[in-house]
Amino acid sequence: MFGIALILAQMVYKMKRIGVITAGGDAPGMNAAIRAVVRSAIYHGLEVIGIERGYAGLIEGRYRILDRRSVGGIINLGGTILRSVRCEEIKTDEGIQRAAEFMKSIGIEGLVAIGGDGTFRGASRLYRASGIPIIGVPATIDNDVAGTDETIGFDTAVNIAVSAIDKIRDTATSHERTFVIEVMGRKRGFIALEVGLAGGAEVVLIPEVKVDLDEVCKVIVEDRRAGKISSIVVMAEGAGDSRYVANYIAQKTGQEVRLTVLGHIQRGGSPTAKSRILASHFGYRAVELLLTGERKRMVGIQGDEITSVDLDYSWMVEKELDLNKYRLVGILK
Ligand code: F6P
Repeated sequence: MFGIALILAQMVYKMKRIGVITAGGDAPGMNAAIRAVVRSAIYHGLEVIGIERGYAGLIEGRYRILDRRSVGGIINLGGTILRSVRCEEIKTDEGIQRAAEFMKSIGIEGLVAIGGDGTFRGASRLYRASGIPIIGVPATIDNDVAGTDETIGFDTAVNIAVSAIDKIRDTATSHERTFVIEVMGRKRGFIALEVGLAGGAEVVLIPEVKVDLDEVCKVIVEDRRAGKISSIVVMAEGAGDSRYVANYIAQKTGQEVRLTVLGHIQRGGSPTAKSRILASHFGYRAVELLLTGERKRMVGIQGDEITSVDLDYSWMVEKELDLNKYRLVGILK
């Protein structure tokens, strides 16, 4: 009886105010996602509150109202206009309680959380503590979120790293050197694999595939004997200590080896068209899900289709990496 009454109430009640937040590491395209959420919400007659400084802002009570104009001219900007500071407090029960109370106090009836797996882990706890529906929008350069083929920012980071490798290849060839290039990816090798394939790397080192460094050295030495004049080793930061790897290769092969750590350069700058378009679709769908009464989902893309999964799936399940791409690097080098 009560269940039916609730469903009927939800059918006639229309949400009035939602919040949007960016949390975790920033990703190029987050601004395009904020813009899409705000403009889709306003299109549907909702008011939008932008939470500032990520989860820290939910705990500290930092927010501003976002209208259509406030998100003008940001689709091409990297970073996030709402900012996103790393927040340890949201991992505690007290932090979650304070955030939940603040959301209720400002009358938020739904939240769109833009971020990665850490953001969604926090969002799930926040949903349980507040009862306020939360829709996740996957945005992280790492692409390590289950339930979506791609996350916002991944394509941009890959393109930045590939153009860096193209430049490094010029100098590597001129000096007949081997370069170890460390790319981001704290726990996973999605960026490294994509970048290695697109950059024509000789070797890719990722956390998902354990390799013997002596075998790597053998490949590099044999390549030289076969006429190659430079080698590129692309390494995910989660695959180990790149300084150690570069030194090891230098010692074992007797070659001149240089290390380049691309670092945060991969997270900044203008998002690619692909990242912006993905963000626009995700932002729109997130608002739609809130309006249709969904309570705890994450939007995603599977093939060409914009889809959604349970929010918990996104951070509880380990996303699969396509090992065919890894084999292809070895065949095409
Ligand atoms: O999760 C995105 C990411 O860029 C990882 O690839 C990287 O390990 C981490 O964030 C770096 O975090 P921070 O900017 O806090 O040092």
